[in-house]
Amino acid sequence: MAEIEKRFAKAKKSGGLAGIVAGDSAICTCGIEGRGLSYRGYAIEDLAKHSTFEEVAWLLLRGERPSPSELVDYRKKLASHRTLPPTLTRTLEMIPATAHPMDVLRTGVSVLGTVEPEMDGNDGLETADRILAAVPAILLHWVRYHRDGSPPDLVSGDGSTAEFFVNNFHGGQSGRPTREEVTRCIDVSLILYAEHEFNASTFTARIITSTLSDFHSAIAGAIGALRGPLHGGANEAAMYLISEFEDPESAESGIRAKLDKKAKIMGFGHRIYTESDPRSGVIKEWAKNLSVSVGDSRLYPVAERIESVMWNGKRLFPNLDFYGALAYHFSGVPTELFTPMFVMARTAGWSAHVLEQRSNNRLIRPVSRYTGPEHREFVPLVPEDEYT
Ligand code: COA
Repeated sequence: MAEIEKRFAKAKKSGGLAGIVAGDSAICTCGIEGRGLSYRGYAIEDLAKHSTFEEVAWLLLRGERPSPSELVDYRKKLASHRTLPPTLTRTLEMIPATAHPMDVLRTGVSVLGTVEPEMDGNDGLETADRILAAVPAILLHWVRYHRDGSPPDLVSGDGSTAEFFVNNFHGGQSGRPTREEVTRCIDVSLILYAEHEFNASTFTARIITSTLSDFHSAIAGAIGALRGPLHGGANEAAMYLISEFEDPESAESGIRAKLDKKAKIMGFGHRIYTESDPRSGVIKEWAKNLSVSVGDSRLYPVAERIESVMWNGKRLFPNLDFYGALAYHFSGVPTELFTPMFVMARTAGWSAHVLEQRSNNRLIRPVSRYTGPEHREFVPLVPEDEYT
């Protein structure tokens, strides 16, 4: 057998790398029997109930939980890192209001890397914290510039990412849901979205890092991977889907019709989980409570009916993006900002993986199975002497 054929015979055939262990990681367990989803050993259910996004970001990046005083200082540090360099704010103001906010974030992180490139001797943590703080500021600078003509308010609130978002987005929100409810819902969503092992965007960040490229390139590449509807873009797509239906009955017939046409229903299914997504129950509870707060009698019942049609018909369950979309909608977040919220959170996980990859790096470079033509004789387009 030729050497190359032997090599391919040894390699397992796996569409989309499903089931392939592509490396070691000490950051997160995802779908491991008996352990579920955990960050650095802590169960996601406990983190969602008792911690904050900043505590989780510290844990992911540094491996241990912060002390109470470290957490206070970390919130202050992130808040102070939200000031953006003028070159970046000017660039953001030139990006049209019609752009997709994911493109704005990808560009923003890239421009930040031109103004503040990584310095030799930096252990990477400083860059990680800077990008983590800059991402929500980039988004809100662009949003507020086009909406109000003013820069975001960088100082009010306790410095948390969720509060920074709510302050700048809702302004003086009153009534129901309360500002506190919305802020905590967003904080919980950021915890749930913060990390998820070797998903497509994280793996992208690790591949880029493995070439010894810079932090900003890894995060910008990850944002590009997250944008698609099979990955992070699913929360936005799920919201459009739920909004299509006026009531549970039309949702049932509409979803059946889509399934008959072999359409993918966004917000359902998962590459790793087979029975349920452990994050979905947490965010569903928030979506349900917020639907009561806003007086919704349409979208939540529609979503529940879609869930039962998908389970009964296909044994498919909602992933975080399905009820996450409703939780954001009831929190007053515009649909086109759903995937950017995911970026605000996942930057913590991506950065932890960049640091981990750097700590034990080997170039990530798999092989492909060649399926192209057999060797072909090359005949020059013109006689050889005409080239001279
Ligand atoms: N709607 C309808 N059918 C679905 C489905 C969905 N959301 N997810 C999976 N399936 C079906 C596929 O059509 C396929 O059926 P078949 O074997 O009859 O062809 C089977 O389930 C396996 O799906 P496949 O796409 O090969 O699984 P995967 O592991 O490659 O994909 C996802 C995983 C997440 C990409 C896939 O479930 C999906 O596209 N979901 C919708 C997008 C989404 O919510 N993404 C966010 C993930 S957190």
